[in-house]
Amino acid sequence: MKSEAEELIKALRAEIDEHNYRYYVLSAPSVSDYEFDMKMKELERLESEFPEFSDPSSPTRRVGSDLNTGFSQVKHRYPMLSLSNAYSAGELLDFDQRIRKEIETDIEYVCELKFDGTSISLTYENGVLVQALTRGDGESGDDVTANVRTIASVPLRLRGNNYPRRFEIRGEMVMPFTVFEELNRQREENGEPLFANPRNATSGTIKLLNPSVVASRRLDAYFYSILGDEIPAGTHFENLMMARDWGFKISEHTTVCRNLQEVNNFLEKWDSERYKLPVATDGVVIKVNSLAYQEILGFTAKSPRWAVAWKFRAEQVSTTLHSVSYQVGRTGAVTPVANLEPVQLAGTRVKRASLHNADIIASLDLHLGDKVLVEKGGEIIPKIVGVDVNQRHPMAAPVVFIQECPECSAALIRNEGEAAWYCPNDTGCPPQIKGKIEHFIHRRAMNIDGLGSETVELLFNQGLIHNAADLYDLKAEQLVPLERLGEKSAERILKSLESSRSVPFNRVLFALGIRFVGETVAKNLATAAGSIDRLMAMSREELTAINEIGDRIAESVIAYFANPAHLDIIERLRNQGLQLETDQIPPEGGSDKLKGLSIVISGTFNLHSRDELKQLIELHGGKNAGSISKNTSYVLAGENMGPSKLEKATKLKVPVIGEEEFLKMIMP
Ligand code: IVH
Repeated sequence: MKSEAEELIKALRAEIDEHNYRYYVLSAPSVSDYEFDMKMKELERLESEFPEFSDPSSPTRRVGSDLNTGFSQVKHRYPMLSLSNAYSAGELLDFDQRIRKEIETDIEYVCELKFDGTSISLTYENGVLVQALTRGDGESGDDVTANVRTIASVPLRLRGNNYPRRFEIRGEMVMPFTVFEELNRQREENGEPLFANPRNATSGTIKLLNPSVVASRRLDAYFYSILGDEIPAGTHFENLMMARDWGFKISEHTTVCRNLQEVNNFLEKWDSERYKLPVATDGVVIKVNSLAYQEILGFTAKSPRWAVAWKFRAEQVSTTLHSVSYQVGRTGAVTPVANLEPVQLAGTRVKRASLHNADIIASLDLHLGDKVLVEKGGEIIPKIVGVDVNQRHPMAAPVVFIQECPECSAALIRNEGEAAWYCPNDTGCPPQIKGKIEHFIHRRAMNIDGLGSETVELLFNQGLIHNAADLYDLKAEQLVPLERLGEKSAERILKSLESSRSVPFNRVLFALGIRFVGETVAKNLATAAGSIDRLMAMSREELTAINEIGDRIAESVIAYFANPAHLDIIERLRNQGLQLETDQIPPEGGSDKLKGLSIVISGTFNLHSRDELKQLIELHGGKNAGSISKNTSYVLAGENMGPSKLEKATKLKVPVIGEEEFLKMIMP
């Protein structure tokens, strides 16, 4: 039985590794997502039943455990150096001539794209990933192994068998543009500060302490250098091709160039082609192909003599600043935007540029009418990077950040340690009101069908809604006469409002739009508090004791409930019959109903996750045990309970109960 399970676990791991490789590295999957999920589920089930066969390289570990990992600092075996840069054709020619003088023959180069992310150094022993370090200061880096394991294109176990017993491979972790944009969209929705570019998002992500959040960020990684005592081939390119066979993602654009002319062709091609890539690049790295020549050339104190980085020029143009306008978002954050004389830049017509915040305006010392330098670098939105003060009119007026909200005239506030100014009038400021209602009706919140931002705008302008609670007072006769609506749409909206009364508490909590309370935070708060009344009464200490809730969120929750206008909305929503408590968890929390009982959980459940069930057992004084013994009081069994567990329970005459039976046991 046991050895069969071990075989099966091993076979499933190998099969899933293969599918992952095909999907994430080759971009050529051979099974459907559904088939893949089924295999993964089966493996998870077997691994939980036979914990003795656990393995940190198992593909199930990619999802990232919820355990927080502080980072320890580890010294690099080989220091992580930087590259010298070349910005002009002349500097590149110098590089080539220096090398040919030293080597006295023609030189073959490898041209690689320079990916713009965060560098990483991985160590493999006997084909298994054992450590992942960030660059750090070049001498030592942070051990981010748990986080790197979640990157789907990083092999946890290598393919084939001709890899060195121990080696390091270095590469760049990146966040694809599509993932970056989606992440920022979500952050905007949750009122969190946005990442300026994919590079910042990548380095921010890899430093997160919770690997399961890292897993959700879908990072990717490209590799470009192998280090160790037993490097298989004599050229850099051949080694990269072997690493590709071992399962690493090596850019398909890496090219051998026989001379400087071919290098220049590569540079010219990628200067414009790079805009078509799915990830950010900031240049090309040119390396001597022969490892023997690399060794002769050696290193300076900071960088190898056999490589140089050609930096793409960030496209810049000069134009005139006409005015600065201010936008107020759903959260009340005020963003300054520069209105420019329209110009062409990196393929698009630019007439606005982000100024981010008041500090940036002050540091640029902007004046109206200034000639400004606009750049489209790694950032999606162009930004102003400089001002030509020589061209400034002597009477030009400085740009002064506004002190009142442009929409509702409330005095702006700035929280300590934050760069942004906020309009605090969240229940009376039109864009905030509309934004909050739009958030409330969103598919992932209350999911009100038939209402979109245009209809919200219309209803708001007609004076029919001022907050989310007003939605539930809407009548068909108010909706039908409105432009673009009609009987059918009105009916759909009312029906959908009606059915939103059964949307669970955690989503209602998310829908309220409390700053920093996104979907996951709302879930954690709802599970821990059990009801809105309990949540309102919670102290800062109680809030921060909840999973993933820190000071910032706790403060925001407390401030939200301290506002009488919010309490009024909540009372009205309560009277409308919305779910303001979880129906499964007793609101007052613990009891001693399970005192002295030892309960084993097995299988998957409909109403709760295994973690939640475990918490419930402990909350009610019971003990959650890992394996069945004669001391086990109950087995709490879900779907797919392992056959051997069932056999053992039957043999030891341990009663097997289902989820609902269990919940009945702890109900007040
Ligand atoms: S080679 C000894 N190749 O650029 C230097 N670096 O400025 C080894 N980078 O820290 C680096 N793509 O984070 C190399 N194809 C590539 C690269 C690359 C991106 C980054 C890397 C490094 C920095 C050097």
